Amino acid sequence: MVNLIPTENWEFGLIDAIFGLNAIFKSSDSFLINIPGLGEAIPVRSGRVALVEAIKALKLKKGSKIGVPLYNCPAVLKSITYTGCQPVFIDIDPNTLCISPDDLQLKLSTLSAIIVVHMFGNICDIPKIKKIAYNIPIIEDCAQAIGSKLNGKYAGSFGDVAIFSFRSGKYLSVGEGGAIYSNKKNVFSRAYLSISKFKTISKSEEIAHIVKTYIRNKLRNPPFFGTVGLPIWKNYNSKTSTINQTPIIIGRIYKSDYFNTNKRIKYLPKNIKKQQNNTQLYNNVLKNLKLDITYNKKNIFNCYLYYIVLPTIQDRDVLDQYLFQNNICAIKPYQNCVEVGRSLFGYKRDCPVTENISKRIICIPSHYRLKRSEVDNISSLLKTGLQQILH
Ligand SMILES: Cc1ncc(COP(=O)(O)O)c(C=O)c1O
Repeated sequence: MVNLIPTENWEFGLIDAIFGLNAIFKSSDSFLINIPGLGEAIPVRSGRVALVEAIKALKLKKGSKIGVPLYNCPAVLKSITYTGCQPVFIDIDPNTLCISPDDLQLKLSTLSAIIVVHMFGNICDIPKIKKIAYNIPIIEDCAQAIGSKLNGKYAGSFGDVAIFSFRSGKYLSVGEGGAIYSNKKNVFSRAYLSISKFKTISKSEEIAHIVKTYIRNKLRNPPFFGTVGLPIWKNYNSKTSTINQTPIIIGRIYKSDYFNTNKRIKYLPKNIKKQQNNTQLYNNVLKNLKLDITYNKKNIFNCYLYYIVLPTIQDRDVLDQYLFQNNICAIKPYQNCVEVGRSLFGYKRDCPVTENISKRIICIPSHYRLKRSEVDNISSLLKTGLQQILH
């Protein structure tokens, strides 16, 4: 399938590689990065390292319980246990797929901190969460929401500390990389001090990273995605345990990732606009079909992945296959979060909404690199596919 369109935006061309190489030889170690609407943040190797450092900077005792949505990237859960803390699973709001304030309220008494994840560009109900949390620290996970806003304020500005990810496939898609931000002076300086002790990356490691990122990006884009990349990726996922798929490697950001992040961040507002337009087009399809399914009704945020919750798992799989036959590769994010939570992180089956919904979610491409003709094609496939499924 030479023309298969991947859901995620992997973007690292020859120019990025050349500028990345140049950065290795020309620039000195850089220690801060400007996040739009927030200010200076401390860059690190990945979003998961940023989470580890954020938890450490809050000075939580070993064994502390951290509230976190069950519907989540396993890297978040691993970061919690990496620091010696324990996850307490909170359910989600089915409309936003973000943490449910009501369930948080029920489980609050044992918690020492809360990680709120702004899922697929949506922002959590922060005003309600802050009222409930009172003086319990809030870590905002903005790995999927850089540039998203609520009431004019940016994701990352609401909590005690925030983290970002620049990994390929996400908003800036530079390779790896992440950052930690806090407007609390003591939290920021503790994180800064800890990260400044990370060892410098050697030039050979930097070069190897650029080569790997370049090859991976080739495999994640047409014409290689459908022919070589996807089979390799599926094989890797089937043979590698969830835990081994998300290793935490503590370290500084690669210079090439730092350079490319700074370059891409300038285009973020323009690219978010494009993603909002795509979201609007998909919303119109769903609205016109008058479907009783969840979608971004009121708030068109910043969806680089556009999520749909189908009535049944079978419906989701039929839509997935239909899109695939028409050269669109959808994804089913975190569909095994319940099993992963139970087998690896002590989840006690007290998140009914997540259990009910997580295997019915599908995401289609919505990122800024799609051409208008591609978005129109996906919209029309969505319409016909859903009409057949839900007639
Ligand atoms: C919500 C969320 N938080 C944190 C992370 C970790 O980011 P990274 O992959 O850069 O470590 C990811 C992605 O993997 C994520 O989706």
